[in-house]
Amino acid sequence: MTESPILFIVDDDEILLMVLRDRFTEQGYDVKTFTNGEECLLHLDLDPSVIILDLMLPGKTGIEILQMIKEKQKEVPVIILSAQDKIMTAVNSIKEGALDYFTKPLDTQRLDAAVRSASTIKRLSKKVADLEEQVDSRNWMIKVNSQNEKMKHVHHLMMKLRESDVTVLIQGESGTGKEMIAQSLHNEGNRASAPFITINCASIPKELLETELFGHEKGSYTGAFQRKIGKFEIANGGTIFLDEIGDLEFSLQAKMLRVLQYKEFQRVGGNETLSSDVRILAATNQDLRTLVLNGKFREDLYYRLASFPIILPPLRERKEDIPILVEHFLEKYSNKGGKKKFSRKTLQALMDYSWPGNIRELEHAIERAILISDGEFITIADLPMPIQTRSEEIEEVIQAGSIFRKSMPVYTLETIKKEMIAHAIAATKGNIKEAAKRLNLSRATVYTLCKQHGIAVLRSEQERNA
Ligand SMILES: Nc1ncnc2c1ncn2[C@@H]1O[C@H](COP(=O)(O)OP(=O)(O)OP(=O)(O)O)[C@@H](O)[C@H]1O
Ligand SMILES: [Mg+2]
Repeated sequence: MTESPILFIVDDDEILLMVLRDRFTEQGYDVKTFTNGEECLLHLDLDPSVIILDLMLPGKTGIEILQMIKEKQKEVPVIILSAQDKIMTAVNSIKEGALDYFTKPLDTQRLDAAVRSASTIKRLSKKVADLEEQVDSRNWMIKVNSQNEKMKHVHHLMMKLRESDVTVLIQGESGTGKEMIAQSLHNEGNRASAPFITINCASIPKELLETELFGHEKGSYTGAFQRKIGKFEIANGGTIFLDEIGDLEFSLQAKMLRVLQYKEFQRVGGNETLSSDVRILAATNQDLRTLVLNGKFREDLYYRLASFPIILPPLRERKEDIPILVEHFLEKYSNKGGKKKFSRKTLQALMDYSWPGNIRELEHAIERAILISDGEFITIADLPMPIQTRSEEIEEVIQAGSIFRKSMPVYTLETIKKEMIAHAIAATKGNIKEAAKRLNLSRATVYTLCKQHGIAVLRSEQERNA
């Protein structure tokens, strides 16, 4: 069921209000009436489809109210009512964004038609805005295609922050996609046609970093044969991405704070104060707050950077995205010979792994598997060793689990312990040394537990003699 369009009517003539309310209620509108403009402003959150606004009101005038409505809700259509002698003001109201005006006494049939078409305009413009947002988010989804709640929040934040110039601090473990987020914020924002320059604060030697960032004057140090323009100047109009900001040397942190506060800096060896119109994005995989507590990072710089944090979850906390990412990388790395497929078991192995290297590790694993696999399907054997091993371990636990299900309806910690040991002993054909290794226990402990639970073991010759 579609909801009735909300119609606001603002007039101090209570009789007219009553007549119009009845008329439009009958036509299916949800009518709200107000005898002054201020009250109408207080209710804008109700998202009216149309506002009928009288020019002569107690308190603020209709034109003032119209301006305030347009400041808050640019797209709501406003129809002005005015007395004959205020016709010029009514005409001027069009310049302030009113859709139409009517003089009193009202031609109610024409007013009906105007309200109807205004309501349609509002409905369609809302639809267009919704569609635009969907198209926008689809563009983003290509890169940030996520089913995960935390990532959806990141995506939402990005939509809000991309057009602004605020500094954003992107935090997350290595390989979670920090640089990709920074690049997207730039590409989808209004600086997209200007440069996006990445500076890795950890990989550039600290003596060079300052000249890299701010440039230097000729002769400022031995070997400075000519003036060098720094990245802050080159990036004018664009974005600077300060990667691994946690590694920024303490003395440079003060200079960075100045750039963030005033967009001002000096070349090394220069006196001239330069300014550059750059947006600064920063990323780190370190906990900057701990660095602040340990005196390694300036607190003022931290607060300056962290006013808009984006925190990327590790891949192990967004496993629902693994199939989507796998599909994306299969597409990316498959050659013209056709796209390979993952068997269900192999995909499960990818889901079970903890991905300490996050999306980067997943991407490499898939690129490698595509290269080394024969035939149409990628199997577990095509995956890197740590993933294969993890998969075997899980298989063992599942098998052990099925033993419990068959024989033990009630699990206590003791029964689980017993079955785990029995399973390890069975899997190693009674080899206590191997079983101990698998269970990550000492041989003596496994031996004692086996004895306690009456599990038969084959003790090696060596052990018997020990
Ligand atoms: N949402 C995503 N969709 C597809 N690929 C992604 C996504 N996020 C990250 N990647 C890929 O994962 C790899 C690592 O991403 P990125 O370099 O942005 O991570 P990072 O957090 O900056 O890592 P590090 O801390 O090691 O610098 C890149 O190859 C990137 O293409
Ligand atoms: Mg990075």
